[in-house]
Amino acid sequence: MALAFPLMPVSEGPIGPFPEGAEPAEYDKLRRRVFWKMPSGLFAVGSRSGDGTRRNMMTLNWATQISSDPKLLGIAVEKPALTHDLIADSRVFTLNLIDREDRAIVRKFTKPVEVDSDERTLNGFAYHDGRTGAPILDQAVAFLECEVRHELDTGSHTFFAGEVVAAAFQRDEETAVLRMEDTRMNYGG
Ligand SMILES: Cc1cc2nc3c(=O)[nH]c(=O)nc-3n(C[C@H](O)[C@H](O)[C@H](O)COP(=O)(O)O)c2cc1C
Repeated sequence: MALAFPLMPVSEGPIGPFPEGAEPAEYDKLRRRVFWKMPSGLFAVGSRSGDGTRRNMMTLNWATQISSDPKLLGIAVEKPALTHDLIADSRVFTLNLIDREDRAIVRKFTKPVEVDSDERTLNGFAYHDGRTGAPILDQAVAFLECEVRHELDTGSHTFFAGEVVAAAFQRDEETAVLRMEDTRMNYGG
């Protein structure tokens, strides 16, 4: 059985609403497992502060396209995350698509990274700045670069809707990219 991601903020108890007759604790666990069953990709989100002095990279799977005209990408970011503060400040972010073979990378971006501005690395992974100044991993298969157009407080997270201002492949387009199912991890639920 897959493990819940240990850093996910844990709520005090079962969260409603509950269907009539359901046992709250059991239903809470069951609903979580249904959420976890939803297929999703697994990405790295690049961010920077408004003044460009801080950069970060964070593992994230709550990402999806939400409009085709304009081209909007939505991501949900935990309020306590450094990434949250950086995106709220700079209004830009990147979404990095990761090679399936690079799955170990997701464990490297679950807390604020160490930035080496001289070597241009984040926790040892080479990056370059996109046109928005947000970092893009050199080894990402492809990336989408966004400027925030809408922001929604959803409770535990903020949903940032970004308009795609740049997109490119950096590796062969046929490269298989990382999905949640390639790991033994779960998030949220
Ligand atoms: C598999 C996996 C998926 C994750 N998905 C998300 C997500 O969709 N949204 C989110 O806010 N955090 C997600 N996280 C948690 C963040 O990576 C983690 O909270 C991190 O501490 C935030 O990083 P930061 O403080 O450096 O910005 C996920 C973690 C893992 C391991």
